[in-house]
Amino acid sequence: MLSVSLVIHSPASSSVLVAPSILSADFGRLAEEVQRAEQAGCDWIHVDVMDGHFVPNITIGPLVVKAVRSASTVPVDVHLMISDPDDFLSPFVDAGASVISVHVEACTHLQRTLTRIRQLGAKAGVALNPHTPEESVRYVLDDVDLVLAMTVNPGFGGQRFLSSVLPKIRALRSLIGSRPVHLEVDGGITPSTAADVSAAGARVLVAGSAVFGSTNYRVAIDAIRASARSTLPREVGA
Ligand code: DX5
Ligand code: ZN
Repeated sequence: MLSVSLVIHSPASSSVLVAPSILSADFGRLAEEVQRAEQAGCDWIHVDVMDGHFVPNITIGPLVVKAVRSASTVPVDVHLMISDPDDFLSPFVDAGASVISVHVEACTHLQRTLTRIRQLGAKAGVALNPHTPEESVRYVLDDVDLVLAMTVNPGFGGQRFLSSVLPKIRALRSLIGSRPVHLEVDGGITPSTAADVSAAGARVLVAGSAVFGSTNYRVAIDAIRASARSTLPREVGA
């Protein structure tokens, strides 16, 4: 395993990170797609794992994470949309996941699962569906490196952004306080919604169709990042 693969930097209020989701990439040319996104300036690569049980879709497993890892040098951000993920943590870490996010709705013993991810050597993330209140993660905030607020119901790319989640993003930012925890959003992120989530406090923006559905990945990534940064105070957003 490459040591570089596990490095994700501590969150900084001045940084806006863009994480293209390969869900909208051309899987027939996956390595090339990942490399193009990296050359276009993305910060992380986001990998959506779906089991056909927790969400109504089936995607990929550790083999594809390993292929993504081999094709890129940036952190690989693995989003597990699977029920009872405990048995699959080790295979995803071995495949090269830098950060693994599990859903609060999918874990009976959430704190144990998050601790296990860290013990395996990856960063730990917790994801919340749009209807799940911020209070559900209050008592695991010292056990995570990332909180992922879904801004669509998970399962598919290309869905409409749910603006009803914006107050929860603000609440999560407040709950996180000064902890070194990334606040990520996922679903329906475009240059126009990026400003709203950034203003609410998100600093890691997942974008699938807005990047891989575009003709120029650099233009798409730059537009999302610029829109998000436009809401930050001038001294840090410049
Ligand atoms: C949805 C996935 C997202 C999805 C985002 O279940 O978790 O990562 O790929 O796609 P867009 O950006 O197209 O909404
Ligand atoms: Zn995702």
